[in-house]
Amino acid sequence: MIPLSVPYLNGNEWKYVKDCLDTGWISSAGSYVTQFEEQIASFVGAKYGIACMNGTVGLHIAQILAGVTSEDYVIAPNITFIATLNAIKYTGASPILIDVDPHSWQMDLNLLENFLDENVVIKESQGFSQSYHKTTNKRIKAIMPVHVLGNMGDMNKLMKIASKFHLDVIEDSTEALGSYFQKKHAGSFGKFGVFSFNGNKIISTGGGGVIVTDDEELAKKAKHLTTQAKVSSMEYIHDEIGYNYRLVNVLAAIGVAQMEEFPKLLASKRKMDSYYRTQLNGVGDIEFQEVSDEVDANCWLFTFKTKYMRQLLNFLNDNGVQSRPFWMPMNQLEMFKNDIFISNDNQSEQVYASSISIPSSAGISLQEMETVVSKIKLFYSSNI
Ligand SMILES: Cc1ncc(COP(=O)(O)O)c(C=O)c1O
Repeated sequence: MIPLSVPYLNGNEWKYVKDCLDTGWISSAGSYVTQFEEQIASFVGAKYGIACMNGTVGLHIAQILAGVTSEDYVIAPNITFIATLNAIKYTGASPILIDVDPHSWQMDLNLLENFLDENVVIKESQGFSQSYHKTTNKRIKAIMPVHVLGNMGDMNKLMKIASKFHLDVIEDSTEALGSYFQKKHAGSFGKFGVFSFNGNKIISTGGGGVIVTDDEELAKKAKHLTTQAKVSSMEYIHDEIGYNYRLVNVLAAIGVAQMEEFPKLLASKRKMDSYYRTQLNGVGDIEFQEVSDEVDANCWLFTFKTKYMRQLLNFLNDNGVQSRPFWMPMNQLEMFKNDIFISNDNQSEQVYASSISIPSSAGISLQEMETVVSKIKLFYSSNI
């Protein structure tokens, strides 16, 4: 089976993990954690990086630090991986789901702006301007753009809308290490950006995440909250409810080695994307995800639309090519079906019903890509 997306572990991973084992520094303290944090922050162009167990907990901490409470709304796209919404729910807040653009599959920013223009009143409270939803009188505290599949929307427009409505921006950049909008890296626009390094991401630590921010105070607080809010290195004194969300040194060691290889892995993903786009152009009714000229995407997971998605999915999985459908839109999941969903014509449903992801590992060989393409061509020539 040609896998969908597996890690590429051909650098110093063994060496650095062995170093942890040899020295006994396997747990939550250790130099690889700091090194990995610095590598990610520096690559992204952010001042600070805070390592954590995974992207989901990073999103949780970012929201706590943005001041999101159980009384608030947080805006998110209707098409995302469940972790974005789970992180909102961990704070007790409720999501406002915005439909997606049918071409880029990112949050539809025109829809977002119209919704806010018509449904929000800005009030002054304790010296701050804040947006309140007119119907429910609940505060809308933050917005979480998700850089879906490593693509990005118009971040200038999003940041303008966020500023107009006093929303904190927490970028779910979990899939977007190596993606840029107008040469500025994903995760560096908002108050926080959060990256994931789980098994299928462009680099992997097995499981892991890094929160990035330019705000020194927030960075310190993020470290504090992810380490049980302990105030003294000697005494067991804690000043608030904290979390044990640390990334352990042995996993950070893998991350350091992966980052050394990252330029190569990114180039490989972009080559793969270009190969698939050339070879699959005009095949059947295939429609590619649109990436604007202002975006340099990391090409994380090659996904396209076809009205034969279900049949193709079964065909490829039965023929040695691991493929997956897209995420079910959030408004269709039991837990979120009563939440606010803003849409004109439910583009999410259409994107979901037609999208399929195909093998995209950074280490995929030309021969494997040729097999993937030939199976897809075979499907369209013999099944349609
Ligand atoms: C869009 C999105 N958000 C959040 C996450 C959560 O990251 P993690 O799996 O590291 O918790 C992921 C990855 O799984 C993701 O793809």
